[in-house]
Amino acid sequence: MMLDSLISCPKCSGNLDKNNVGYICNQCNQKYDIEDGIVKLFYFPEFEKDTNVTEKIKSFYEKTPFPNYDDFDNIAQLMEKSRKGVFVKLLDEQIPFNSSIIECGCGTGQLSNFLSISNRTVLGTDMCLNSLRLANEFKIKNELNTVNFIQMNLFYPAVKEKSFDVVISNGVLHHTSDPFLGFKTISTLVKPGGHILIGLYHKYGRIYTNIRQFIFNMTKDSFKFLDKRLIADEANESRKNAWFQDQYKNPHESKHTIAEVMQWFNTCGFQFIKSIPKDGIYESFSEDERLFESDESVGSFERYIKELSMIFTNSKDSGFFIMIGKKI
Ligand SMILES: C[S@@+](CC[C@H](N)C(=O)[O-])C[C@H]1O[C@@H](n2cnc3c(N)ncnc32)[C@H](O)[C@@H]1O
Ligand SMILES: [Zn+2]
Repeated sequence: MMLDSLISCPKCSGNLDKNNVGYICNQCNQKYDIEDGIVKLFYFPEFEKDTNVTEKIKSFYEKTPFPNYDDFDNIAQLMEKSRKGVFVKLLDEQIPFNSSIIECGCGTGQLSNFLSISNRTVLGTDMCLNSLRLANEFKIKNELNTVNFIQMNLFYPAVKEKSFDVVISNGVLHHTSDPFLGFKTISTLVKPGGHILIGLYHKYGRIYTNIRQFIFNMTKDSFKFLDKRLIADEANESRKNAWFQDQYKNPHESKHTIAEVMQWFNTCGFQFIKSIPKDGIYESFSEDERLFESDESVGSFERYIKELSMIFTNSKDSGFFIMIGKKI
């Protein structure tokens, strides 16, 4: 699928005509430039500017693109690194090769680039141009022809509704002023029968990170050894700094629960498929998990106990959980 057939005006949803400097909407005449090969379809209306955290978050990530490319710049290294993560490896194995995917808040685009290697059509979108530049440099250097990157505000999608088999937004909505509205907006991009995958900070799982945030703030960042990633040998300094800024100096983050996102799914016409970690007390995520096969449902009390237990079990990294839903 060509980029031109996917994009539309983020302001009025009109069709875009290409000219020699960029695109123009044939309905509202809004112009969109191209910079360093990236179409700038970012729209942020004036009336939102006082109340929204978008600008704060945007300038934060423009300064510290996340997650950044380590010392690697080729496909083999990206594949090796990506497959080390069980979830990403399973995604690659289980999303069919001819699928269309949009990632909302792709950061520096590792996941989008990686998933495109198997000939999937992938659109990586983010509002941060510096991150997209790194993503696009990698794409060009490695001749990944089925991935494209555009600058887009997920609250004003610059793509047509119901265009994608899979919509992914990992670690993004909790950095917005209205995570549910963000979810509702990007959920319209999923085709009927398609899937949405959302990664968020967990209300209980993030408690240890919040404690570290507090300690760092009180001690002018003297106790960095409390975070394993900051003292790990494998990552280089710029990647460690990207992690430190993202986790401990972020201007805005919110926390959520499985039960809450299940409610979002219900409201927006999605069937709950599974959460990672799983919501049942006796269930655990396996290395050969079928990501798109529905788990047995559990009662709300059991789920609550499981969520509470994430204080202890989910605190190692950033206190993250992932929800997978299917558009009915
Ligand atoms: C923590 S990073 C996650 C990047 C990537 N998904 C990952 O898992 O590594 C959050 C990203 O969300 C992007 N973001 C936040 N709010 C956004 C919005 N309203 N529209 C588009 N991108 C947004 C930021 O620019 C940033 O790149
Ligand atoms: Zn328009």
